Amino acid sequence: MWRSPYDAEVTSQHYKNMFSFLRKQETVTAQVNGQPVTIQPGETLLQAALRSEIYFPHSCRVGACATCKCRLLSGRVKELTRSSYVLSDEELARGYILACQSVAQTDIEVEVDIWGDQ
Ligand code: FES
Repeated sequence: MWRSPYDAEVTSQHYKNMFSFLRKQETVTAQVNGQPVTIQPGETLLQAALRSEIYFPHSCRVGACATCKCRLLSGRVKELTRSSYVLSDEELARGYILACQSVAQTDIEVEVDIWGDQ
C-alpha cells in the first residue's frame, strides 16, 4: 500500500505524542523569591528548594495543610494532587500553588511568603 510522506509524518508525530511520557525529562529552574533552584525531573518544587537548602515553609508534604503555598508568577506546573481542596477560590485565581504537590513543567518563578503573611 502506497503511503504519502505526509502520512509518515503524521504517524511519526502521533507516536511521538503517544509515548511522550517516556521521553527523558530535563531539569528546569525555579526562581524562588529570586533565588535560583534547579529542579530534577519528577521532583516537586518543595523537594528541590529543600535540597538546595532554601528555606521554604512546609509541614505535611502531602497537600493537606497549605503551609507550602506560594504564588506562581510565571511558568507551568503539574499538580500531583488537586490544590483546590486546600486553597480558596481567591488564592487559586491569584495563582497560588502548593509547592509540595507541584512538579514544574517549564522554568518557573514563584513568590513565597516566608513570614506567613499571605
Ligand atoms: S506542606 Fe502541607 S500542603 Fe504542602
